[in-house]
Amino acid sequence: MSAAGIVIVGGSYAGLNAAAAARAAGFTGPITLVGDEPHLPYQRPPLSKDFLKGRVESSQLPLRAPKFFDDSAIELRRGHEVVAIDRHKQEVVLAAGDSLPYAKLVLATGCRPRKLSVPGSDAAGIHCLRTLDDAQAIARECAAASRVAIVGGGFIGLEIAAALRTMGKEVVVVEAQSRLLARALPPELAAYIARRHEREGVRLVFDAQVASFPTRGGRVDAVLLADGTEIAADLVIVGIGVVPNQELAQAAGLRCDNGIVVDERAATQDQNIYAAGDCTSHPNPFAPGMTRLECVQNAIDQGRVAGTNAAGASATYAVAPWFWSDQYDLKLQGVGISTGYDRIVRRGDMEQGAFSFFYFRGERLLAVESINKPGDHMLGRKLLAAGAKLSQREVEDTGYDLKQALAQ
Ligand code: APR
Repeated sequence: MSAAGIVIVGGSYAGLNAAAAARAAGFTGPITLVGDEPHLPYQRPPLSKDFLKGRVESSQLPLRAPKFFDDSAIELRRGHEVVAIDRHKQEVVLAAGDSLPYAKLVLATGCRPRKLSVPGSDAAGIHCLRTLDDAQAIARECAAASRVAIVGGGFIGLEIAAALRTMGKEVVVVEAQSRLLARALPPELAAYIARRHEREGVRLVFDAQVASFPTRGGRVDAVLLADGTEIAADLVIVGIGVVPNQELAQAAGLRCDNGIVVDERAATQDQNIYAAGDCTSHPNPFAPGMTRLECVQNAIDQGRVAGTNAAGASATYAVAPWFWSDQYDLKLQGVGISTGYDRIVRRGDMEQGAFSFFYFRGERLLAVESINKPGDHMLGRKLLAAGAKLSQREVEDTGYDLKQALAQ
């Protein structure tokens, strides 16, 4: 049995950054990163975009080369699933039966796609997209597919819709709600994105409930809706949201509530266990109450905080969350959390295809979401970090340099 050091469960952005940060913070003991996927930690965002289009290959996806793990003395255990945490013995149990002792444990277990359980949902030709293996399976079937149905009009569904439409496929998006992107974006921005998809020839079906997936010869043939509408499809992708992988933590008696509950130091209620990334519910100075974020930024930054604290140094998580999504030539970027806004102030012309929404509650700027305005996005990050004061007139006036608000 090896000496107890830092064990990290989950080999994606949060886990990798926790490991790197622990080493950078001066931890000299063993660091073991355990992940259930067979790959080196890899970039996920391209999977729903350029990877499907064949513009990025799997060999371009690793976040770090093998040399990084050797140089940093981080032991990477790929293809290993952790099935239990014994908090009393301070060890994790692997599916193969062996166990790993830990002095400090970081849970970076991420999320998994929500399942759609209707008749036929296990048929061939129906996929979700979270992992490289998922994306490879979709890419393999793409060439032969001509009619694609996407269930779920959120980020994943729409990015895939854009990629496949660009490849000339017929694409239908089947959305349960009356509009796109209801979890993450306000109606005005979602409507803008919807119009763009329709202009590209994507059919959007709202208020739709999937009743079943009719099959032919074991393979999906259509999507049947509750109102009797049948949408022919030879490839189906289900992107109806994700759920946090919190069962390991829950079984170990750690508090979970829409994610593993941690404080601003990424610590759970067990002083030897931290958690980071999509799987956590955490206090965030830029959002009311507890928050669970699904973005690369959160995984990286909170992962670093967890790794630093696990190493015995001290870090607090207080970054304004940011994200992006690419669909066609639309670059959507957001910073902050708009929950509770009472006013949207627009900067720039929507018809010109480059503008930003600034969200306010009273005088307080909560968030900035931009289409094709990377400058506004970068500035938005600074404005939020600085708690800068802005008036509606300043935001609306494109002749006014918002950088001035940083100087006040
Ligand atoms: N049928 C059709 N649509 C559904 C159903 C259903 N049964 N259930 C949910 N939906 C819709 C939701 O209304 C929402 O519009 O699916 C969409 C899911 O959108 P998101 O919550 O954004 O999740 P998803 O697109 O799956 O993305 C998952 O991956 O890239 C990341 O940031 C992204 O964290 C997000 C994650």
